[in-house]
Amino acid sequence: MSVERTLSIIKPDATRRNLTGAIVDRFEKAGLRVVAQRRMQLSTAQAEAFYGVHRERPFFKSLVEFMTSGPVVVQVLEGEGAIAKNREVMGATNPANAAAGTIRKDFAESIEANSVHGSDAPETAANEIKFFFSDLDIVG
Ligand code: CMP
Repeated sequence: MSVERTLSIIKPDATRRNLTGAIVDRFEKAGLRVVAQRRMQLSTAQAEAFYGVHRERPFFKSLVEFMTSGPVVVQVLEGEGAIAKNREVMGATNPANAAAGTIRKDFAESIEANSVHGSDAPETAANEIKFFFSDLDIVG
């Protein structure tokens, strides 16, 4: 397996409950390294663009409202097989289906307010990292 980078977002439900450190701890304990990080308030246009692939889904409007409801922390995580590892640490999208010990099982409030986002494949990861960070922001 090779060293990969993936885009992670700590979502507004988690920043609101002051869970940033607890979530970063899960990543670091799993061997993922935070090589870029920024806390920010997403605009509606940014959230719509980031989740553009979901534009036709019934939950799109609500998702954009949720993602702009408070600060997020966007991060680049690096490590061996980082994309799959991050998805394993996050757990299933719906916390009701997430495995014990995962971030979403332990912290998520609902399928929408599910505490974290992580890229799902290498091409998505490259595009999502570029959406938020320039090469100069990433220090491995
Ligand atoms: P995320 O992994 O960021 O990708 C899309 C997001 O849409 C998802 O996490 C949830 O926050 C949100 N969402 C809300 N409803 C649903 C749903 N029914 N299925 C999938 N994702 C949903």
